[in-house]
Amino acid sequence: MSSQKVWFITGCSTGFGRTLAKEALLTGAKVAITARNIMSIKDFEKDFPENALLITLDVTDPKQVKAAVEETQKMFGRIDVLVNNAGYGLMGAIEEVPNDEIKKLFDTNFFGLLAVTRQVLPIMRQQKSGYIINISSIAGVAATAGMGFYNASKFAVEGLSEALALEVNPLGIKVTLVEPGPFRTDFAGRSLHKYNGIADYDNTRGVAQKTIEEYDGKQPGDPEKAAQAIISLIDHPYPPLHLPLGKMAVDRMRDKISSFSENISAWEKVALDADFKK
Ligand SMILES: NC(=O)c1ccc[n+]([C@@H]2O[C@H](COP(=O)([O-])OP(=O)(O)OC[C@H]3O[C@@H](n4cnc5c(N)ncnc54)[C@H](OP(=O)(O)O)[C@@H]3O)[C@@H](O)[C@H]2O)c1
Repeated sequence: MSSQKVWFITGCSTGFGRTLAKEALLTGAKVAITARNIMSIKDFEKDFPENALLITLDVTDPKQVKAAVEETQKMFGRIDVLVNNAGYGLMGAIEEVPNDEIKKLFDTNFFGLLAVTRQVLPIMRQQKSGYIINISSIAGVAATAGMGFYNASKFAVEGLSEALALEVNPLGIKVTLVEPGPFRTDFAGRSLHKYNGIADYDNTRGVAQKTIEEYDGKQPGDPEKAAQAIISLIDHPYPPLHLPLGKMAVDRMRDKISSFSENISAWEKVALDADFKK
């Protein structure tokens, strides 16, 4: 069945987006492959002339979002799978990152994803079917010192997607949050904007920054295996709302659940005493 499906993927120049576009095309699917710089995806046209539709798309540009979705609908007649993948990282302590950088991050990681989703939803509602896959991060589940704004942007994606699932599941539309740990893409290199400068954060933000710089190119996660995992969800009757990817993501999700649980146990009495007496 997945072979006839129509996909729409954002951020396909490199990394997860590019890999997923290729793997989806190899299943025989039709794919709207989008990227800010269309030259970065030109090779798909030659390799998959029938099924690859190349579109310029910066997710922060509302006109491009509207035009890209309309072009896909016109060319393929439907959209079955939306993958909101475009995004980047931002490191720096909460005190260190300038406001305009924080706003730019949210414009892409949250508002861009939101704009594309809202443009595609009417099509999926009309079809009474569809699947929205939001590439979040394990950083959308558990925070790290020095990653606060990236954490916030992905936590926002998590909250939005959980509510979206409740709204659209009854309409035949599925939603999955993909939460990768570190994967070998351009994320920790050219896609990571870095700020520092306050020495008091050298033992927190500084350590995290050094760790990320050191693992760039050596991350345990394989983007091709991530793409295969995502493809395996497509025809599943009950795909998960949350899919952590890679051992580090699974471990961090389990740690988060345990720490929530320990927190409730330690403070349950205080929490319960806050209700009116019955
Ligand atoms: N790799 C990891 O370890 C990891 C872990 C957890 C989550 N993620 C998430 O995975 C997603 C993909 O990242 P990646 O790891 O594949 O890194 P990547 O190789 O750097 O790819 C990022 C992609 O996002 C695109 N992009 C950035 N801003 C955009 C915008 N405004 N409009 C359209 N496209 C935009 C980039 O396009 P340009 O080429 O034009 O810059 C690029 O195609 C991101 O959402 C990231 O947060 C990655």
